[in-house]
Amino acid sequence: MKKYILALDQGTTSSRAILFDHQGRICGSAAQEFPQHFPQPGWVEHDPNEIWNSQLTVARKVLHDNHVDGGQILAIGIANQRETTVVWDRKSGEPIAPAIVWQDRRTADTCEALRADGKAKKITDITGLELDAYFSATKLKWLLDHVPGARERARHGALAFGTIDSWLTYKLTGRHVTDVSNAARTMLFNIHLMRWDHDLLQLFDIPEEMLPQVVSSSEEVGHTRAALFGAEIPVAGIAGDQQAATFGQACLKPGMVKNTYGTGCFMMMHLGRHPVASHNRLLTTVGWRVDGATDYLLEGSVFMGGATVQWLRDGLGIIQQSGDVEALAASVPDNGGVFMVPAFVGLGAPHWDPYARGALVGLSRGSNRGHIARAALEAIAYQSAELMAAMQKDVEASHRDIPLTEVRADGGAARNDLLMQFQADLLGVPVVRPTVTETTALGAAYLAGLAVGYWETQEEIAAQWSCDRRFEPAMSADRRAELLGQWGRAVERSRGWDT
Ligand code: G3P
Repeated sequence: MKKYILALDQGTTSSRAILFDHQGRICGSAAQEFPQHFPQPGWVEHDPNEIWNSQLTVARKVLHDNHVDGGQILAIGIANQRETTVVWDRKSGEPIAPAIVWQDRRTADTCEALRADGKAKKITDITGLELDAYFSATKLKWLLDHVPGARERARHGALAFGTIDSWLTYKLTGRHVTDVSNAARTMLFNIHLMRWDHDLLQLFDIPEEMLPQVVSSSEEVGHTRAALFGAEIPVAGIAGDQQAATFGQACLKPGMVKNTYGTGCFMMMHLGRHPVASHNRLLTTVGWRVDGATDYLLEGSVFMGGATVQWLRDGLGIIQQSGDVEALAASVPDNGGVFMVPAFVGLGAPHWDPYARGALVGLSRGSNRGHIARAALEAIAYQSAELMAAMQKDVEASHRDIPLTEVRADGGAARNDLLMQFQADLLGVPVVRPTVTETTALGAAYLAGLAVGYWETQEEIAAQWSCDRRFEPAMSADRRAELLGQWGRAVERSRGWDT
C-alpha cells in the first residue's frame, strides 16, 4: 500500500491538509476558511476550537476524498501561523480566552512602555526580534493580566500556554510541546542558548510552569489518538509556517531567499549555522533544528500581503474573488499615480510602526477601481522590496560572502503573474516560482518525513525542487528608483496616524 506524509498547514485565515508522496508531489488537499473575530479596532482574535475543528475536518477530508486510511500515513508534519497565543486549562483542555492573533495590536502600548524603560536592546539581543506587539510575549502577558485568576492558576501549573503548533499537537497527541522555530517567535526564547529565558519570563511576568517543552523541528513528539484517524500516527515535524516554507523551497544554503505571499509577506534568507544580528530592523530567527543542528534565518515580515486583496474583496467589494484582482489591475496600464499603503494593522519590517494606518494617496479625477486594484497589488511588491533592500544592507554590513541572486516565491498571490513580474522589476533580481507552490505544507512534510526515514537527507529534498516560471527584471534602474521614492513618500503619510 502506498505511503504518504500528511501535512497540516494551519494559517491565519484557513486550515489546510495536504498529502505528499515520496517525490514531494501533492496527492490530495483540502482547505477550509475559519472565522476571524475583530472585537475592537486593532484587535484580531481566533477561537482555538474553531481552529482545531477546521484543521481536523480538512485532515479527515483529505484522507477520505483520496481513499487513504490512517495506516498509510507514515507521519504528520505541522506548519502554523506563528506567534498567535493560546492559553488552555490542562485538565479540561479548554481555552481560557480567545486566541490573540499575531496581527493584534492591543499590546502596542505595553511595548512602548518597555521601550521607554530601555528594554528594547536586551530583548533584541536575546531573541533576535524587534520589541513589537506582533510576538507572543505581550499577548500572553495581556491574557494573564486580564483573565481573572489566570496568573495564579498558571503558577500552580493549571494552565498551558502555546502557539498554534502547541495547541494542535496537544489536541492530536496530548503532549505539550513547541518546536524551536515557534519558540523563537514568542519573544521569551534565547536563540543563542536555545532555551526559555528566565530574565524575559520575569520581565513579562510569565510563570515558567505554563510553557511547553521545546523540541526539534524534525522528531517524533507523540502519536495521534487512534480515534482521530483510525491509526496512531506520529507527529514528527513542526515548524512555523514561514520557516517551513523556507525548508519547502529548499533554501538550505546561506544567501538563499524565499518570499511567501500569504496573508502577510514573509521574506526569509538562510544564514547558515550562526545568527547574524540585523542593523536594519529585520528579525533574526531560528529556521529549524534537524539532527541536532540549528539553522538560522533573517526575516522581513510584512503584515498585509494577500490580505490586502482580501480587503478589496470583503471590505471594499470591488472584486468578487481574490483571483479577479489580476484582471482588474491589468485593466489600467499603470497605477496612474495611485499608491496604497495597506497599514491596516500598523507596519511591520522595516518600519515597525504599530500606529501607522492604511493610506490611499495620489488619487485624481481620472482614478478608477482599476488603479486602486493595481495600487493594492503593487503595495505587496513595494513592501517586499523594502525587505529585500534591508536584507541587502545587512548582508553587506556582515562582510560575509553571501550572494543574493534570486528570490523564490510562493503563497497564494505568487500565482499572480502581474505581481511576480512587477516584483522582479522592483527587486532587480529574478523572481522564481516553483512547481509546487504549497511550500509551507511541503516543508512540514519534509521535516516529518526526514524524522521517520521517508526521506534520508536534505540533499535529497533539495533535488526535488523544480521551477515553474522565472520572472526576469525588465525595469530600468531610474524608473525603479523613481517608483520606490514615491512609495516612500506614501509610507510617510501613513505613519503614526493612530496616536
Ligand atoms: O508570523 C505570522 C505568519 O506565520 C502568518 O502566516 O501564512 O498565515 O500569513 P500566514
